[in-house]
Amino acid sequence: MHLTPLHVQGGRPLSGQITVQGSKNAALPVIVATLLTREKVTLHGVPRLSDVRTILDLMAHLGTQHTWVGENSLELHTPEILNTDAPYALVSKMRASFIVMGAILARAGRATVSMPGGCAWGPRPVDQHVKALRALGVDVHEDNGNFDAHRTGSLNGQFIFELLTVGGTHNAILAATLGDGVVTLENASIDTDVVELIEFLNHLGADIQGAGTHTLTIRGVAALRGGEYRVIPDRIEAGTFMLLAAATRSRFTVDNVRTDHLRAVIGKLQEIGADVTEDGLSVTVDARDRDLKPVNITTQSYPGFPTDLQPQMSALLATIPGTSVVQDPVYPDRLTHVAELHRMGATITVSGYTQIIQGGALRSAPVKAADLRAGAALFIAGLTCEGDTVIDGVQYLNRGYERLAERLQGLGANVTQNEPELVPAAD
Ligand code: EPU
Repeated sequence: MHLTPLHVQGGRPLSGQITVQGSKNAALPVIVATLLTREKVTLHGVPRLSDVRTILDLMAHLGTQHTWVGENSLELHTPEILNTDAPYALVSKMRASFIVMGAILARAGRATVSMPGGCAWGPRPVDQHVKALRALGVDVHEDNGNFDAHRTGSLNGQFIFELLTVGGTHNAILAATLGDGVVTLENASIDTDVVELIEFLNHLGADIQGAGTHTLTIRGVAALRGGEYRVIPDRIEAGTFMLLAAATRSRFTVDNVRTDHLRAVIGKLQEIGADVTEDGLSVTVDARDRDLKPVNITTQSYPGFPTDLQPQMSALLATIPGTSVVQDPVYPDRLTHVAELHRMGATITVSGYTQIIQGGALRSAPVKAADLRAGAALFIAGLTCEGDTVIDGVQYLNRGYERLAERLQGLGANVTQNEPELVPAAD
């Protein structure tokens, strides 16, 4: 869906406070994990985003009934799995939906999931998902653009991931949770969104040990119960707003933040020269009247500096005089923000996955977001300069930032959109 552009007029400091929503990337696998129980589950802190709507559409096809029972509270119920396939039309909208494979397989014994395909910044393979399932005893065949998975018994055995993958770890956990086997995953992701999935499943009666370490042991259980659960705050949204404070040389408070999830980001902001004050679930960033310094950054899997904040950090560094070097080996093609920042006067040279940024003042321009985090980089850049920055591609921003214009207005930002932002209907 094409939405009218976002108009951003910056060049003045922001102030006040902004509250972070529940985590998109934690909520999506937790929503998928409700496929594992025939009982009702109520989730709180679910952000109203188009990606959430996409996964709910896919789950409706699989047999899940959902009801929004509060602004960010969602009741999910899957009494029976009605279909075991996840068709291309639904999977291609969002790569994260590939993890339904593990969940459908756990509950129904077989699953046919379309290959997710590429995205705006590279191929993003799923080889580790498939290798893990095969190593644990699942038959997986590729056929006509689909992965067809079939299990004859409980999943058992060990798999060592060849690299740290959040989605691959999710998929293997989901597949192994039900049954009477014992599965060990080595070199598993320790990402907050993996810990969150494990805590949620254990809350419903799963037996998964080792959350937050690279070795997970999953003992299959016969069934999961229903329950109620609150999703963790979105560390990427929090980080985006913290970087915005530094880029606009402002002081404001970001509420509902797990600062323990943001160590790498806080460290870099301090290295740049911003003041970061933590107070329970709040963090205040102060970058007023400071001589901010350029820094070098390389993205890594959690707890390293997140790739999901790389474009936003690049936008901030594009405003800081001097040379910064940003490398994103996690997603080497995640560079769609660069050409747009050039339009705004940024000096960024790209070589492979390395950006060499010569910082200085940016200027407003018409720009286009080609993906979610590039869109975030552009509203950060737009808020640093006077004049009207017109950001097209708002549908991408709506994948990850709820009621963005309204919430930024709460910080005194001049951000407007002519039509209401896309919010999933309260159905
Ligand atoms: N990889 C493989 N093979 C696989 C799986 C991953 O080579 O089978 C590689 C990827 O190409 C990448 C690295 O492993 O280089 C890490 O990928 P990972 O599997 O961890 O990513 P993901 O689970 O597909 C999630 C987030 C992304 C975020 C990445 C990395 C969700 C819905 N998505 O993706 O979030 O960039 O982890 O942290 O949780 C976003 O929110 O903007 C976003 C894209």
